Amino acid sequence: MIFEDFPPENAHRILAPRPTVIITTVSPKGEVNAAPFSFVMPVSMEPPILAFASAPKHDTNLNIVENGEFVVNLTPASILQKMWITGEKLPYGENELEKAGLTSIPSKIVSPPRIAESMAHLECEVLRVNETGDHNLITALVVHASVQENCMKDGLLDVKKVKPILHLGGTDFVVADRLKRVE
Ligand SMILES: Cc1cc2nc3c(=O)[nH]c(=O)nc-3n(C[C@H](O)[C@H](O)[C@H](O)COP(=O)(O)O)c2cc1C
Repeated sequence: MIFEDFPPENAHRILAPRPTVIITTVSPKGEVNAAPFSFVMPVSMEPPILAFASAPKHDTNLNIVENGEFVVNLTPASILQKMWITGEKLPYGENELEKAGLTSIPSKIVSPPRIAESMAHLECEVLRVNETGDHNLITALVVHASVQENCMKDGLLDVKKVKPILHLGGTDFVVADRLKRVE
């Protein structure tokens, strides 16, 4: 039997679990901001472009509109609790990475920092911000990518090592560390 009355506004609960990343930005004064995001996807390989959706009120969105740069930091299971702390709403200008006990390291090209505990980082320069429903769709060029040693295997993320976390909804996450290969 099919349940026909599933609320369409909960489509994201069906398109789940989704890779969860921590996005770092900086304010016009240079203050670091960090927050988790799961409405994130690659959209072009050549040139390398990705997109994510942010509620317009988020500090992340404000900083991106001002400064045009951000870093996507992959979230391994080892920092699940710390990632959650970066999701707390702090006053504008306060650094969620410090609150969560995560370590900032300088990026290679953009001004927002990378997170040392993340296994991979995508430095991005914003191309467009499009109002889309109750979110802004932020499209950006990936200008630099870095991965910690031994985290790739045969050109793919070594999930047994990285244990990426995927958001199911609310406080529930899935740890993606089991590989299934098509025969
Ligand atoms: C796992 C997880 C995923 C999230 N994904 C998104 C998202 O894709 N888009 C969004 O607008 N907010 C998302 N949020 C909510 C923001 O991270 C949260 O509201 C945060 O406080 C925003 O911080 P900021 O104001 O410093 O940018 C998510 C929260 C969590 C915990």
